[in-house]
Amino acid sequence: MIIAIDGPAAAGKGTLARRIAEEYGFHHLDTGLTYRATAKALLDAGLPLDDEAVAEKMARKIDLAGLDRAVLSKHEIGEAASKIAVMPAVRRALVEAQRAFSRREPGTVLDGRDIGTVVCPDAPVKIYVTASAEVRAKRRYDEIVGTGGSADYAAIFEDVKRRDERDMGRTDSPLRPAEDAHLLDTSEMSIEAAFQMAKSIIDAGLSRNA
Ligand code: DC
Repeated sequence: MIIAIDGPAAAGKGTLARRIAEEYGFHHLDTGLTYRATAKALLDAGLPLDDEAVAEKMARKIDLAGLDRAVLSKHEIGEAASKIAVMPAVRRALVEAQRAFSRREPGTVLDGRDIGTVVCPDAPVKIYVTASAEVRAKRRYDEIVGTGGSADYAAIFEDVKRRDERDMGRTDSPLRPAEDAHLLDTSEMSIEAAFQMAKSIIDAGLSRNA
């Protein structure tokens, strides 16, 4: 049983995916962390971010069991990740590892940008989580300020839009909803409401597959 969750940056898909995995007792993989871990390993080793062969080699060494969200969530790592995520060889390497993960029993929840379209096109349940760029920037802003940091809303908004352009504009596996994905626009929804909506989509999918 595979639940595929895709959507743009800061749409809330990570939080949603973790809650769903907990609810159903499934393994969860935030595939963004695999791109981030590859980028961080390159940065730490002082290697370039624009050499596809070097980046692919690094991608093949990533251990899915050792992905540390706290360390990898830094802004600079996200920027670097979105640069190497345009490279087909890097994507091929990481997608192989993600597909292997998706087959774990009793089921898995994968979240990212291309899970429903490329990584697990046969997943019985696909959800595309989105929210307006303004709402996503505001949520990120509140999150930073809420944890005691200082933030500039205008800069975050520009950053969200730039990240969207890069994710949706790349030629290999651009961010887009799979044809059979359920769209979940969380602009006007609380996390709890989004979770309940996702749960009803999943329960309907599970009963179809039973
Ligand atoms: O979701 P995130 O911010 O952790 O993702 C980091 C970068 O990795 C982002 O720019 C898009 C890319 N990514 C991707 O191309 N495909 C995925 N399945 C997940 C993330």
